[in-house]
Amino acid sequence: MIDKYSKLSIAPMMDWTDRHCRFFHRILTRRARLYTEMVTADAIVFGPRRRLLGFDPFERPLALQLGGADPQRLAQAAAIGADFGYDEVNLNCGCPSDRVQSGRFGACLMREPELVGACVAAMKAAVRIPVTVKCRIGVDEQEPREALFAFASAARQAGADALIVHARKAWLEGLSPKENRDIPPLDYPLVATLKRAHPDWPIAINGGVKDLAAAAALLREVDGVMIGRAAYQNPEMLIGVDPLLFGEAAPVADAFEAIENYVPYIERELAAGTRLHDMTRHLLGLFAARSGARAYRRRLATLAPQRGAGLDVLREAVAEVSPRWEGAAPERAVALVG
Ligand SMILES: Cc1cc2nc3c(=O)[nH]c(=O)nc-3n(C[C@H](O)[C@H](O)[C@H](O)COP(=O)(O)O)c2cc1C
Repeated sequence: MIDKYSKLSIAPMMDWTDRHCRFFHRILTRRARLYTEMVTADAIVFGPRRRLLGFDPFERPLALQLGGADPQRLAQAAAIGADFGYDEVNLNCGCPSDRVQSGRFGACLMREPELVGACVAAMKAAVRIPVTVKCRIGVDEQEPREALFAFASAARQAGADALIVHARKAWLEGLSPKENRDIPPLDYPLVATLKRAHPDWPIAINGGVKDLAAAAALLREVDGVMIGRAAYQNPEMLIGVDPLLFGEAAPVADAFEAIENYVPYIERELAAGTRLHDMTRHLLGLFAARSGARAYRRRLATLAPQRGAGLDVLREAVAEVSPRWEGAAPERAVALVG
């Protein structure tokens, strides 16, 4: 096992993995690597840096994901990110949205491995922290084996410290980015083949991983697994990450304790003017397997966005939930990976 890249990470997700979300995820797992939402290099260089990049040191280890295709601009943004204290910068080569395509970055970069190499090399020259790349297995009519292998070689030669592969093609026309997260089908074996071609270079796989058992199975083939939607929609599963994948104690026993540990953060942020909903919207997926979950969600979703909503809204929502499990409790006793 190569330790340069975390075995388990939570994917960068626009509008979801903001600093409040990450702080909460860090309460659930000390070991998973967390990612920011994608921030464009231009926004960092010319925009409100502190607002875009500020984070709490508790969130670390934390990677900053950059969008862009101009090597010098990316290098500048990476250096600024490193100064802010990020542990890794990651280049987005997987996003298919129109906005990103008009800037010729994101998944379009799958067609331009040389440019990606130039971007990585410039970023590497600008920072000491690891520079990684997140990509697809190809776009549109590309033959994935050729496209992915050429892309990976270019990234590696330029000095990328790891590659994270969302194991499906991006379609740049005809699908919305949302549809393009489920269609076309995943190709895990191709990523495993790529890994065998690069035995001493960290490669992580992403896409469709629903739980930690699936992650553990993939870890037999690759160095890391990145989980996106499942981690966000069912954050309780993250409580199993440290014990099951890293052999360490879970930081909290359950979602009730996790929320208690989040309370001091919420109080601090409310005092600083953050709205309750900005923090609690990331908690809506909790308690899914317990009775009262629906009432919890309804209360939180309707009352937390109201002006002046305070901690009592959260406490009353949690009071709707039964501490007893409705079905079988999740299995946490057995380590999945030695
Ligand atoms: C709401 C949302 C926003 C996303 N934003 C980004 C992003 O900013 N950068 C990125 O590389 N991928 C982004 N993605 C893609 C995820 O990182 C991930 O590659 C994809 O969801 C597949 O993994 P999953 O099946 O585990 O969710 C986003 C996904 C979602 C659901």
